Amino acid sequence: MPGTMIRVKQGERVTRRFVNDLPQASSIHWHGVRIDNSMDGVAGLTQKAVPSGESFDYDFTAQDAGTFWYHAHNRSMEQVARGLYGALIVDETEPVDVDREEVLILDDWLLNPETAQLDPEFDSPHDKSHAGRRGNYIATNGAAFTELSAKQNERLRLRLINAANARIFQLALSGFEGWIMAYDGMPLDEPEKVSGTFLLAPGQRIDLFVDVTAAPGETAHLVRIDDEEGFSQVSFPVEATPTSIAAREAPLPLPPNPDMKVPDVGKARLFQLNMEGGAMGRLQSATYNGETKSFRELVAENQFWSFNGVVGMSETPLAELSTGETARVSIHNDTVFPHAMHLHGMHFREVLDDGKLGPLRDTLLVFGDETREIAFVAGNPGKWIFHCHMLAHTASGMATWVNVT
Ligand code: C2O
Ligand code: CU
Repeated sequence: MPGTMIRVKQGERVTRRFVNDLPQASSIHWHGVRIDNSMDGVAGLTQKAVPSGESFDYDFTAQDAGTFWYHAHNRSMEQVARGLYGALIVDETEPVDVDREEVLILDDWLLNPETAQLDPEFDSPHDKSHAGRRGNYIATNGAAFTELSAKQNERLRLRLINAANARIFQLALSGFEGWIMAYDGMPLDEPEKVSGTFLLAPGQRIDLFVDVTAAPGETAHLVRIDDEEGFSQVSFPVEATPTSIAAREAPLPLPPNPDMKVPDVGKARLFQLNMEGGAMGRLQSATYNGETKSFRELVAENQFWSFNGVVGMSETPLAELSTGETARVSIHNDTVFPHAMHLHGMHFREVLDDGKLGPLRDTLLVFGDETREIAFVAGNPGKWIFHCHMLAHTASGMATWVNVT
């Protein structure tokens, strides 16, 4: 782990035969890819989970350039925690002005400190009802100490992917001048200069351009902030011999991806998504498998969360949309925990307080007691799951779907 990187040029076809040699059923989801619904890999919604010993052929065209990833989408709380994921990188058709790039998959592994083996409690009621499964061995591309080389004034592209089950990474730069170029695979209209810290929630990606400002012999860092303390997530010792690389101007934006329609919020239908449940929450009762259950009864079934009063996938979708229609979803987090809401198949924009639209994203972090609104053009027909990417939460109620016909 991580799985082999899949790397193609924008517009190229990706074909992979998934052969399931695991002892349990699985499927592969291509996170962030605008894909045909039948290839989205959501077990139970877009395909049957592939049984042990069987295979499934995935086939799609990578129409968007950017940083994506693939991961198991059946029993994800266990399978992703075990490392069933990898990067999916789609290169721009024209080369980008950087000297080098690094794909950095961040994760935290929950290890037994005595045996250094993965903690096998993948169904933990505590993890499900609280912040999710959080690990104690924080790693980049599977290794705790990652050291990469750098040269003064070099411009690197860092592709950050958060593959953790639940950890929200709070990050900063040291010895670099940096710009956020893209969120969740979609370029920003204007690069955002990094000052201070930035967040990377489960499922999210950030493309950074960083210029090495640390002097020869010093070390630059991607810094992780944990309980207000800084740690080196990845270190970049700068070569001792000064180089002749000249400092560059601030970067120009990456080329936008094709056919991204801007949502017309004034014409959109508004849907409500009310999230309830969890420890210290206010959930009294909810519908589970068609029956009304008290919170106590839900707890007995290891279920803790509801969307609009329903635990887990509902029979009817959150929204029935016709292709091309614009939808708004007002998400109210009536719980005390943050949730990283991920919509499959289509990117959305946040509708900000001043009515302006935020950047394109596929995963939005919503903190406890917050209300945030998103808008998107339902440009992709199919059944699209909309769920919390804290995978313990997905497994205990936090999933719904939208239907585009
Ligand atoms: Cu990255 Cu539904 O998942
Ligand atoms: Cu959640």
